[in-house]
Amino acid sequence: MQRLKDKVAVVTGAGRNIGRAEAMLLAAQGAKLVVNDLGGGPYGTEPGDDSLAEAVAREIREAGGEAVAHCSSVATREGAEAAIARAIDAYGRIDILINNAGIVRPARIDRMTDEDWRLCMDVSLTASFHTCRAAAAHMIGQRSGVIVNTGSPSGFGHWGMSNYSAAKEGLLGFTRSIARDLGEFGIRCNLIRPVSHLTGTYTPEIQDTIDQSARLGLPLLWNRPMAAPRMTALPEHVAALVVWLCTDAAAHISGRDFFIQGDEVALIPEPEAIRTSIHPGGWTLDALDEEANRAYIFGDIPNRFVRQAPPA
Ligand SMILES: NC(=O)c1ccc[n+]([C@@H]2O[C@H](COP(=O)([O-])OP(=O)(O)OC[C@H]3O[C@@H](n4cnc5c(N)ncnc54)[C@H](O)[C@@H]3O)[C@@H](O)[C@H]2O)c1
Repeated sequence: MQRLKDKVAVVTGAGRNIGRAEAMLLAAQGAKLVVNDLGGGPYGTEPGDDSLAEAVAREIREAGGEAVAHCSSVATREGAEAAIARAIDAYGRIDILINNAGIVRPARIDRMTDEDWRLCMDVSLTASFHTCRAAAAHMIGQRSGVIVNTGSPSGFGHWGMSNYSAAKEGLLGFTRSIARDLGEFGIRCNLIRPVSHLTGTYTPEIQDTIDQSARLGLPLLWNRPMAAPRMTALPEHVAALVVWLCTDAAAHISGRDFFIQGDEVALIPEPEAIRTSIHPGGWTLDALDEEANRAYIFGDIPNRFVRQAPPA
């Protein structure tokens, strides 16, 4: 069964690993593809190589599908808009947009350069704004469309990854708001937090951040043991969730946040106030001290991060 027959899909960063698996599975399900990838590397500064996107597009065509390559960087407004324009030029519409391109530039906050910050924002957050805005204009006219943005478990908090966490968690707020903007037109938008080993963004510097977290005894991202999965998580596992979210079976799902790693998929809850206290007339410092003594809102919050600082 081809679940996405004749749908038109754009996947950014589809030249390798997760994006490639997403493009291949979309095509196997009958979608016509724009395979975007500038053919760079995980740090965002490597020279481009058109052959990556072209090879994936060729592989899809050789398997009997339809695909064109698009080799611009989505980190610029022109490149991102051109990726959407490529779908309109080639196929006359856009039904599916997967914002997958991503890079990593870990550094502790005091050592993080302007370039580390800007490149992460450009490739993950700003690129998704530009592609979504361009795609939305067409999807609204069509009264249909699906967008999947690529977040990360690092958004839960990750030593040395403040730029990446900010970009990825920014994408989550962006996703929730887009779901609200576009729902009345039958357009859905969700976010996934993938884990896939053996991919480009799993750099030695990322391993250093994990080792450093362990050395400091920090909770590793959230309540799942990221370092000890039951199986090797492959790009194909991520692609299955992403493509399923694009099908009619997921027609009721929008503005949601999912985690996928190998054999585990999880729905992440929306933020909620877990303890609420009212102070008549408004809060003061004394009232907050009293509240802390009651150990309701503040008093029994475990200290997970703060230590007695060693002498400088
Ligand atoms: N691999 C993981 O465990 C993991 C975990 C959390 C989040 N992610 C996210 O999943 C996505 C894919 O990760 P991956 O591990 O497959 O990455 P990867 O580095 O293996 O592949 C990413 C692809 O994106 C392309 N790309 C980078 N910048 C681009 C740009 N400006 N324009 C167009 N293409 C660009 C690269 O050339 C590369 O081919 C990323 O957004 C990443 O942040 C991955």
